[in-house]
Amino acid sequence: MNENIPPRLQKENLGIVPNTTKPPIDLAKTIKNDTTKSQLKHNNDDHPHQAQQQPPQQPKKEQQAEVVTKRKPVNNGIAPDDDDDIDLGGYQKISKIGEGTYGIVYKGRQKLTNKIVALKKIRLAFSEGIPVTAMREIAILKEMKHHNVIGLTDLVQKDTYVYIVSDYLDMDLRRYMNDVGRKGMTPDHIKSYMHQLLCGLQYCHSHRVLHRDLKPQNLLIDRHGKLIIADLGLSRVFGVPMRTYTHQIITLWYRPPEILLGANFYSTAVDMWSVGCIFAEMMTLRPIFPGDSQIDELFRIFQLLGTPNEEYWPGVSALPDFSHTFPCWKRKNLLEDFQKYRGFNELRTLFNPEQTEVSLSYAFDLLQQLLEYDPCFRLSAKKAAEHPYFYTDITKIKF
Ligand SMILES: Nc1ncnc2c1ncn2[C@@H]1O[C@H](COP(=O)(O)OP(=O)(O)OP(=O)(O)O)[C@@H](O)[C@H]1O
Ligand SMILES: [Mg+2]
Repeated sequence: MNENIPPRLQKENLGIVPNTTKPPIDLAKTIKNDTTKSQLKHNNDDHPHQAQQQPPQQPKKEQQAEVVTKRKPVNNGIAPDDDDDIDLGGYQKISKIGEGTYGIVYKGRQKLTNKIVALKKIRLAFSEGIPVTAMREIAILKEMKHHNVIGLTDLVQKDTYVYIVSDYLDMDLRRYMNDVGRKGMTPDHIKSYMHQLLCGLQYCHSHRVLHRDLKPQNLLIDRHGKLIIADLGLSRVFGVPMRTYTHQIITLWYRPPEILLGANFYSTAVDMWSVGCIFAEMMTLRPIFPGDSQIDELFRIFQLLGTPNEEYWPGVSALPDFSHTFPCWKRKNLLEDFQKYRGFNELRTLFNPEQTEVSLSYAFDLLQQLLEYDPCFRLSAKKAAEHPYFYTDITKIKF
């Protein structure tokens, strides 16, 4: 144990901020057949721990059902990773696209219109269906209409799962950066993606909707250069589980210092920190704070931006996980530090030589204001979208 580190931030206490919901109850393990919502509601045997307490010679109905389901021949080949729910109301699964924090994402088809959609399967963490509060949140999300925010088309409930139906897009920004590299991420691309991201976020924030899990995987792009924010509000509706569906630890790389230090409030500034991290990553082609635990994440931030103190961030020492024994790192110059990234040096060569210095100084001024420690002084989406970085050459902006 390191005495400089508060107990909650010790390496072994990996994972996410403490002010989140409990990990979901594994209802799916005990109920795999077509149990209706009302059955779920009235059947107290649903809980897996209770199920385990039953004597083995008297298997419960649900356990028998699970055995039967497992023996059943698997689907007709459309979605090989799933057994019994290829048909979902008016939708049909086509193939699995990926999996993340909340569950599996499928490419699907709306039967009536043949429209291709994305179906995000989420295991419900609630034993009595979707709570009213979550339904209210979903209703708000359904109302959100902006060309840089994903449209939530529908919601289909099946057993203990809910499928969120949304627009389908070609690719996410993480894969794009990995696959295409610098030639697909020129100064113009960065400017356009940043502007679209800020416009979408400004719209969300003006409707009092926070994202709270912005990262390149949640920014979808199409072949025409359009960027769309996905998975909006999901963490608030369904709670952030400790681990992803595939048991990886949720990425902390885009999480702001106030949350890492245990603040139990969320403001729009939370998303703006993530925007700063994404902006830096587009410039360097590497995540700038790739921490593998909460404390590692914090220390990586401190090493670049200096260990925060009351002078630069009034109130920081009152945050639950702040420690006066944190090592004292001095702030580095971002522009100088970024020269250690090959991706950044490649980027420099792509600027118009006469404008390199001016363009970079605007870019770094914006970045610094996004990676501002004090959430009260961190740039808002509206202010960031108006930053001179975007207006040195207005023709580069894609609307
Ligand atoms: N609407 C969509 N259209 C096309 N692909 C999508 C869509 N939604 C998600 N995907 C793809 O599926 C992958 C997995 O999505 P998912 O949202 O489950 O995980 P994630 O984005 O990695 O993490 P998180 O669950 O925290 O958002 C995404 O990274 C993306 O590539
Ligand atoms: Mg996602």
